[in-house]
Amino acid sequence: MLDNYTLHNALVVSSSEKVYTGAIRVHNRRLGYTLSGPQIDLEKKSFVYPALINTHDHLRGNYLPRVGPAPGTFYLNWLPWDNDLKVSDTFAERSRLSPDEIYYLSAYKNLFSGVTTVNDHFPQDFNRKILPYLPIRAFLGYGLAHESSSYDLKWGDGIELEHERALKNEWPFITHLSEGFDEESMRGIHYLEQVGVLDDHCVLIHCIGLSDADIKKAAAAGASIVWCAASNMFMFNVTCKIRKLLQSGVNVTIGTDSTHTGSINLFAEIHYDRELYRNLYGEELPAKTLFNMVTINAARAFHMEDRLGTLDFGKMADVLILKAKTEDPFENFANATMEDIELLTMAGKPLYGEMRFMDLIGGTLQDSYTSITVGGIPRFVIGDPAGRYRQARQKIGFNKMLDFLPFEPESESS
Ligand SMILES: [Fe+2]
Repeated sequence: MLDNYTLHNALVVSSSEKVYTGAIRVHNRRLGYTLSGPQIDLEKKSFVYPALINTHDHLRGNYLPRVGPAPGTFYLNWLPWDNDLKVSDTFAERSRLSPDEIYYLSAYKNLFSGVTTVNDHFPQDFNRKILPYLPIRAFLGYGLAHESSSYDLKWGDGIELEHERALKNEWPFITHLSEGFDEESMRGIHYLEQVGVLDDHCVLIHCIGLSDADIKKAAAAGASIVWCAASNMFMFNVTCKIRKLLQSGVNVTIGTDSTHTGSINLFAEIHYDRELYRNLYGEELPAKTLFNMVTINAARAFHMEDRLGTLDFGKMADVLILKAKTEDPFENFANATMEDIELLTMAGKPLYGEMRFMDLIGGTLQDSYTSITVGGIPRFVIGDPAGRYRQARQKIGFNKMLDFLPFEPESESS
């Protein structure tokens, strides 16, 4: 793999404020100034963005179909969903795969939607042995709670200790909050205040039961809120007060949640969010706002804005190249699908790309790469997702379709 290379004639979308035509230089895993190594001409036909960040997923829980309330009904909080999940056919079928197998497929769910950084919301006791080996950055540096309520699943070492650890290490403290409308769910922000942890390290997922006063408190504390609209609407027919959250200056990000309730991936979630916002408020949620939510806002939420979230020099070379289908780079981003990814790199390392970028991985498919065909175009990919997909199908016992994997594994060479 090459440590140094340059992509020139690129339509560079460094951030929502900085768009230019020019070169992107990768130097020793970071975005650099030095012109060295091979040059690839993008012919001004591709937009180059920071790779995306998914602030909320459960990598053990990406399996289909979704599990939800009986038709015509919705839940009061997350607890009956958890009970329904455990007795569902989806869960029984999923259980034929080992945690490792599901985690790898979930990593590819993220990779194929331009994501290089994701939080796996699970206790590290469970995921510590798996995350470092995944093809994307599913980081271990976070404090967590399950829901910050008396009846939650008691993940981690308790809110105070987990939060203290997060502060000490400059990690995020991540918890579901107010995922429902019972009395306790509605008091989520109050509870965090009471135990003294409501601050700018908090990454609060869902927050559908927040009052206007709660929103003001979250904004004043500098907390981040993760919007998981598809999951919320599926379970509760309600999502957070997204317009009010944005107006009050809260750092809002977008998470997919697992496919047990959420969208199939981050691209699908972005499409869903935009349409929902239009339906709820009769106005457009700007593509630029959506872009910020899955790049710099997400990096800020994770306290990683010094190294991720924009294409500024010195940051990690996490780069997403999308086919330019429209003139406006942000509209182009907001309408992107899995077939539009031309190249995805993490710290300079190509994870997935069209064959014209093969020089970046040494010119041939080395041991750690395989090829797949997506949208009729052959591409290289890190690892062997087709092999893993085939292996999963064997264990499940039939040709299961997992919609977040954009290729047919039986047509790929083994
Ligand atoms: Fe969740």
